[in-house]
Amino acid sequence: MSRRTFLKGLGLAPSTLLIPRWVMAAQAKNPLQIPPRLDGVASEKGKSYSLRAQAGTREFIAGLRTPTLGINQDYLGPTVFLRRGEDVELNVSNTLKEQTTLHWHGLHVPAKADGGPAQIIEPGTTWSPNFNVNQNAGTFWYHSHLLHKTGEQVYRGLAGLIILEDEKSDMLDLPKNYGVDDIPLIVQDKRFNSDGSLAYVGSPRDVMMGFFGDKTLVNGTLDPVFRPTTQRVRFRLLNAANARSFTFAFDDQREFQLVATDGGFIEKTVSCSSLVLGPSERAEIVVDFNDASPCKLISLPLGSPFAARGMMGRMQAGNNARSELLTIEPAAKLEQSPALPTELTTLSPLNPRDAATTRKLTLSMAMGMGMMGGRGRRGGGGGGNFFINGQAMDMSVINYRVKKDTTEIWEITNDTMMMHPFHIHHSQFQILDRDGLAPEAHERGLKDTVKVGPGETVRFIMRFENYADPNTSYMYHCHILEHEDNGMMGQFTVE
Ligand code: C2O
Ligand code: CU
Ligand code: CU
Repeated sequence: MSRRTFLKGLGLAPSTLLIPRWVMAAQAKNPLQIPPRLDGVASEKGKSYSLRAQAGTREFIAGLRTPTLGINQDYLGPTVFLRRGEDVELNVSNTLKEQTTLHWHGLHVPAKADGGPAQIIEPGTTWSPNFNVNQNAGTFWYHSHLLHKTGEQVYRGLAGLIILEDEKSDMLDLPKNYGVDDIPLIVQDKRFNSDGSLAYVGSPRDVMMGFFGDKTLVNGTLDPVFRPTTQRVRFRLLNAANARSFTFAFDDQREFQLVATDGGFIEKTVSCSSLVLGPSERAEIVVDFNDASPCKLISLPLGSPFAARGMMGRMQAGNNARSELLTIEPAAKLEQSPALPTELTTLSPLNPRDAATTRKLTLSMAMGMGMMGGRGRRGGGGGGNFFINGQAMDMSVINYRVKKDTTEIWEITNDTMMMHPFHIHHSQFQILDRDGLAPEAHERGLKDTVKVGPGETVRFIMRFENYADPNTSYMYHCHILEHEDNGMMGQFTVE
């Protein structure tokens, strides 16, 4: 409830009240919105889901209407529930006046069904990819992936969560009552103009450092409050910001248990006091509220090895700030939650000796002049000022052809002064090392995005199974969307 509807409820106009400042501050909290669930309906193709990209407005700030984009609603979309083993058809209709695409981030699907920049949905048309859900339970998401426009469309709201369940997740005694003790937290930062509209890229710096806002939204709620009614709550964290990293922690330093990374459960729970997620990364954590004391989910300043260096460190002030994300006020009496399991799953590590090849990719960026627009864009094929191996994204170039049923090592070197979250489509990978050092416990799970700090080299190993298609490619790119939109992306096929 916004302050205004609250006052309206009392039959009072906002201006007729003189409220002490501290009371105002308490009232300014809005109940955390929970995206509606979308379960799909049985059809001859299996389960069928209807998703509609639409334009609308949303009152994020009381009294101001913000033009937005959303899926089946004004801003963001429903949480799509998938089940391992099911055949699904996702019908995505585009009611916008512009092109769009919808990509299933983290899902293992045929290239044609992937929703990348080549699978354009023209205004007024419907795109209906279908596939079999054949991967582990986990938290994934969907978002626009239109060439040069991903950043803007995602920022305005074309994104939503995917929750995939399987037998393992059914069996595990984790909080799983969606909206009650299994809570998605889609975290984003925004910049509002004084009329309530969303400001987007306005300067070369917004492209160079990525676009940062000065306000955060959780599930599209500004100043959100969540009131747990159970002893333990599972939060599905998604960093859906364009560029900002969040270092999740609690203001009372309480510890929490990590149970899943991008691609699903880790083997054993890991106890954390803070956890960094770069853009597009997910984590599932379980938090104990048994003490019933209120606290805040916050973001701490980004530390090493990911903080930007030198002048860039000062320019990326957004990542250096501490911010409050969510107020948590547990109910006085909490329903009992089952004890948290410590053993979650078994993962089979891929062996570097089985790798058919090691691909080396170096991330770099042009500095200074001409950061906006991008010189290659006039050509229409891609281009920009951000590069992988010295080349900017070009729709007409397939950078790699991977042989189906092989294992590969990808070695990503960051030749810049800031962190880039490197993401690859098609499958989940396992991190081998970071500058030669084995990953820490919280990075020893399945991942589809990995933060590569300034000057760092990260190696991961991945298996390319299923869906041979020499004519349709998958993407790999930096998930700072302004970098992706301006060249730091490439394509590969599996054939
Ligand atoms: Cu989340 Cu290629 O994207
Ligand atoms: Cu993706
Ligand atoms: Cu980047």
